[in-house]
Amino acid sequence: MLTVRAARTDDLGAIVNLERYCFPPEVAFGRSRWHYLLAHAKGRTLLLLDEKHQLMGYLCLLEHRGWDRLVIQALAIRWTVRRLGWARRLLEQVIREGKAAGWGAIRLEVGDANEEALALYQGLGFRPQQRLADYYGRDQHAHRLVLPLVSDEERERRRVARTQARKPSSQAN
Ligand SMILES: CC(C)(COP(=O)(O)OP(=O)(O)OC[C@H]1O[C@@H](n2cnc3c(N)ncnc32)[C@H](O)[C@@H]1OP(=O)(O)O)[C@@H](O)C(=O)NCCC(=O)NCCS
Repeated sequence: MLTVRAARTDDLGAIVNLERYCFPPEVAFGRSRWHYLLAHAKGRTLLLLDEKHQLMGYLCLLEHRGWDRLVIQALAIRWTVRRLGWARRLLEQVIREGKAAGWGAIRLEVGDANEEALALYQGLGFRPQQRLADYYGRDQHAHRLVLPLVSDEERERRRVARTQARKPSSQAN
């Protein structure tokens, strides 16, 4: 049975190692990017561990208050435990907690050739919002997918409120 816990900065080496096996070199995040995500970024990373505390997967989530969105930065499951529902469980957890915390939506980018990830996200209700030409390199197109966590009316109400809040307040003469 695998367990989930929040990542710490001393998990850096294990994460970078698994990342190298799960993504091609031109796409994989390196040590400095992961150090930033673990130590400085606003958000959190969930780890999936086996009984011996070996890393089996991770999901990194950033918080973007200005857009009222959570952004999935990275998701990978070790090949030995794929297709057992672990990625779906991690995503269901962040969707559940994102709703409970009042976030407007969750966003991510996925390569058009990544059929397993596309099936995973679409099965959870993520929908394409934007095509990203050459996103992962030449001819490696991608899509931005979004899962709304609140109704369209509520999202629009928040968008208007954000726009109003950014306007400089009118001065009385
Ligand atoms: C994509 C990835 C995270 C899926 O992890 P996983 O734990 O194996 O996925 P799950 O077992 O939770 O699968 C959930 C659903 O996703 C889809 N899916 C997952 N793997 C699939 C595959 N190989 N082929 C087709 N559909 C697949 C299916 O709809 C599946 O539901 P089902 O098993 O009931 O049919 C994993 O393959 C991975 O780490 N890939 C490399 C890194 C990567 O591409 N990350 C995503 C970056 S955007």
